[in-house]
Amino acid sequence: MGSSDERVVAVIMVGGPTKGTRFRPLSLNVAKPLFPLAGQPMVHHPISACKRIPNLAQIYLIGFYEEKEFALYVSSISNELRVPVRYLREDKPHGSAGGIYSFRDLIMEDNPSHIFLLNCDVCCSFPLPEMLDAHRRYGGIGTILVIKVSAESANQFGELVADPVTNELLHYTEKPETFVSDLINCGVYVFTPDIFDAIHSVSTQRKDRANLMRVSSFGSLQSATRSLPSDFVRLDQDILSPLAGKKQLYTYETMDFWEQIKTPGMSLRCSALYLAQYRITSDHLLATGDGTRTATIIGDVYVHPSAKVHPTAKIGPNVSISANARVGAGARLISCIILDDVEIEENAVVIHAIVGWKSCIGKWSRVQGEGDYNAKLGVTILGEAVSVEDEVVVINSIVLPNKTLNVSVQEEIIL
Ligand code: GDD
Repeated sequence: MGSSDERVVAVIMVGGPTKGTRFRPLSLNVAKPLFPLAGQPMVHHPISACKRIPNLAQIYLIGFYEEKEFALYVSSISNELRVPVRYLREDKPHGSAGGIYSFRDLIMEDNPSHIFLLNCDVCCSFPLPEMLDAHRRYGGIGTILVIKVSAESANQFGELVADPVTNELLHYTEKPETFVSDLINCGVYVFTPDIFDAIHSVSTQRKDRANLMRVSSFGSLQSATRSLPSDFVRLDQDILSPLAGKKQLYTYETMDFWEQIKTPGMSLRCSALYLAQYRITSDHLLATGDGTRTATIIGDVYVHPSAKVHPTAKIGPNVSISANARVGAGARLISCIILDDVEIEENAVVIHAIVGWKSCIGKWSRVQGEGDYNAKLGVTILGEAVSVEDEVVVINSIVLPNKTLNVSVQEEIIL
């Protein structure tokens, strides 16, 4: 345990509109970090996990979305948590380390002893106090949350080797082509303020190299095509890789759940994980279905208080229903996210699907995916204001906003 006057700051990297393109068509309507998982914006889950950090002074979200996209959420969550939450906008992408470095003076105003850095697009139980305790035992400038994954999937992430006894990070490679390890970087870190010196030295080296290249004409050609701007610094390749094996970085392995949220399909999987976690952390958010005038609820289900679900509907498991949605008599919903203002009419069936804002699903229609979260068409996605007419069947398909479907479709992307 640290002393009671030590302050801690948390920073969540939210990226910007040019990132998260794999999240289309859902990111056409809302910034990806605000897309609801288990009824709460994606970024809400790491933010509420930060509440457990002792002596937390501030939470910053850093991104290159426009301020207005986050303004409403940031003010309501600050009031709810009673911890100041601020959105800081980069004028352009500076990379996952350059982004935090560009606001170092502001972050250091609270004189924090430790700084948490969290990727917004990961889903886990965020064991932050446990990481901080481990980091205090290890020393060094940072501790990385890591997890074991299957050897086949490891190359989508940063692969690393850690000392089995001391937990020191010995070797780090970002998304390697040949297998290094099934232990991967979860995108959740705790650092001392020394991280800013490490980022500064990468950026200075880059500046020096660029100056050197400029003096020869061959060099200037190379620098124009190959080198990154000096203020663009990636946490993984530029900081973690070179610091591995230098007794500066340590690892904390989670045995709990962890997933990355890059696609709409994965958001459905992560919604299920967060709903299951509510059983432990926020049971009051789960629908109970007891009482004769409520729908039949199976497993973990979230229903926004303003949504109206007919008592003869059957809902769950893994269903999240957002504000002002209406679910008609006899409807059956399994493994789906129903967004704001959706209307699901009588006896419609929705399975392994995400139904976009203001969409309408007609009577006796069926919107279904096969449920493979990683496959391109494994989850059926309807964009905003899609209308599926009565008795129409939509299977394993993606439908872009404002379309009307009056014939059944299967394995199609409707543009
Ligand atoms: N503010 C800001 N500015 N955020 C950024 C920027 C930037 O310029 N670039 C990336 N981010 C944010 C993204 O929104 C995301 O939350 C996080 O930083 C990491 O994004 P990427 O740099 O695109 O990396 P990745 O998600 O493919 O992989 C990283 O995360 C994995 C865990 O999810 C790597 O660190 C992997 O090693 C790691 O396994």
